[in-house]
Amino acid sequence: MSGLLLPGTRLVPITQKGEMSIRLFGIWYPVSIPYFCSMNIIYTYDQLFSFSKNIFLKIGCNEADAITAAGSLVAADLRGVDSHGVARLGGYIRLWEVQRVNAQPAIAITHETPSTAVVDGDRGLGLVVAPYAMQVAIDKAKQVGSGWVSVKNSNHFGIAGHHAMMALQHDMIGIAMTNASALVAPTFSTEKLLGTNPIAVAIPGGTEPAFVADFATTTAANGKLEILQRKKMSTPNGWVQTKEGQPSVNANELKEGGALLPLGGDREHGSHKGYALGAIVDIFSGVLSGANYGPWVPPFPAYVPIPENMPGEGIGHFFGAMRIDAFRTADEFKVHMDKWISRFRSAKTVAGEEKVIVPGDPERAMEVERKSNGIPLLQSVIDDLEALGLKFNLTL
Ligand SMILES: NC(=O)c1ccc[n+]([C@@H]2O[C@H](COP(=O)([O-])OP(=O)(O)OC[C@H]3O[C@@H](n4cnc5c(N)ncnc54)[C@H](O)[C@@H]3O)[C@@H](O)[C@H]2O)c1
Repeated sequence: MSGLLLPGTRLVPITQKGEMSIRLFGIWYPVSIPYFCSMNIIYTYDQLFSFSKNIFLKIGCNEADAITAAGSLVAADLRGVDSHGVARLGGYIRLWEVQRVNAQPAIAITHETPSTAVVDGDRGLGLVVAPYAMQVAIDKAKQVGSGWVSVKNSNHFGIAGHHAMMALQHDMIGIAMTNASALVAPTFSTEKLLGTNPIAVAIPGGTEPAFVADFATTTAANGKLEILQRKKMSTPNGWVQTKEGQPSVNANELKEGGALLPLGGDREHGSHKGYALGAIVDIFSGVLSGANYGPWVPPFPAYVPIPENMPGEGIGHFFGAMRIDAFRTADEFKVHMDKWISRFRSAKTVAGEEKVIVPGDPERAMEVERKSNGIPLLQSVIDDLEALGLKFNLTL
């Protein structure tokens, strides 16, 4: 099917210049249309959502959970985070097949105060456990101004930003983070002890759109390494190190015993701060809740054995919701948030750059583009989804 478009779908220029663009490492690159055609087939959001939902139903999720899981998953594709969308659907199902995901979890609060809670995800899909826990944080914020929820016994939750953004419609600031299996060496170490541990913070604007920062605490998320592997390209400096701790630009370094590096790359460029950020995520998500942490966080690939002597249960997440009017009126805040955003957008640019952007801008632009023109998938992802469909008697 490579090089063909599905019936009823179309390939449309993204940029005003009439070029296609592709997002690589958070930056848009123009791509020639013939190249783009040979790489992608376009699907509508509804096609990917209903296929994902039906797969989740097939593994035994109830209707509400299947809708929630599919919504969390396809939100990544819609926002241009292709490494965390339907490309991972097969991975979640393989975790269910080896009984590391419970499709019918009894998610519950196990400990709470008016403003805090620990949620036990009962080995459910993180795509379902995370929205549940974020809703607990929001409900607590409604009651007492802020809500803070640490989660244990969960699984990979997709993109952090999707969960943090649940707070926006309530005039709240949302925070979401998760630990992940250890691929990252702390500064000065050759051992992989941390995951790429993302943090997302979503802040409502008034007439301006929301500020949404959502990123791994490593220089590059693992998905970006995988893109370079597929393209047989080297990494920029500061992404990976060899198993002896030497700097490297080999995109396959992880497979050869090396490690990803914390945000900053090396000590000279502030890797100790990336290490600290990743550690904070790990402690809030794992140590605070009773989940696993550090090198004991269970891996996403189902074929990788789970670590021995795990000190906790499953993967951990952390969520926060803060009511704006617990600080100042939401209207007043939004006036100043708009002023903040417009001042930053109008900042003088360095040579060669057209404008300064605000966190959340690229993903929002992508969401608008993909809602109207569809979501391109790589042939390898389509092959995976079709194989999955075959297994469950579903058509993509
Ligand atoms: N579940 C997990 O275990 C896991 C682990 C790691 C990452 N993730 C997810 O992967 C996704 C990608 O993470 P990443 O680290 O590759 O993100 P990234 O490096 O692409 O950074 C994305 C963030 O930077 C902002 N941004 C991009 N360019 C900007 C600019 N010029 N100025 C200001 N802001 C700008 C974006 O709006 C966004 O908030 C995230 O959604 C994250 O939640 C999930």
